[in-house]
Amino acid sequence: MEFERMMKQLFTEEDSARAMAARLMEIAQRDIHAAAQERVSLLAFLRGPMERHMAYEEASMFPLLVEHGLGPEVEVAIKQHAAIRKEAENLEAATTDEATARAVYLAARLMMHHTNFEGDYIYPELSRTEWHNLVKATMTTGE
Ligand SMILES: [Fe+2]
Repeated sequence: MEFERMMKQLFTEEDSARAMAARLMEIAQRDIHAAAQERVSLLAFLRGPMERHMAYEEASMFPLLVEHGLGPEVEVAIKQHAAIRKEAENLEAATTDEATARAVYLAARLMMHHTNFEGDYIYPELSRTEWHNLVKATMTTGE
């Protein structure tokens, strides 16, 4: 895929991740039963594309960024990844609509913070090839 097209796609995905998170936070605050209905698709997203994205960053990108002097930023991003995974577990374990809506809200808010953080502090440091590989890893289908 053309680099420019990939960049456009990643920015589009980032925008849609942000829009998705904002929508889920809004639903969770307005209607816990409606929020509870989002559980399955949000879990699928967290365990699919989001997990692939995080795993790739951790294995292939963060070590490079640490070498480039971005240790503190990587530390924050790693903590955010851990918090997102923990909230996915909470979401899966939730048995009431109240608990589910709360986990939907918290997971969405964590995704929002993380997307904003990486957009501001991590992505600007990547080379063209690193971008290319991140997009490829995120978009790969399958588990
Ligand atoms: Fe990340």
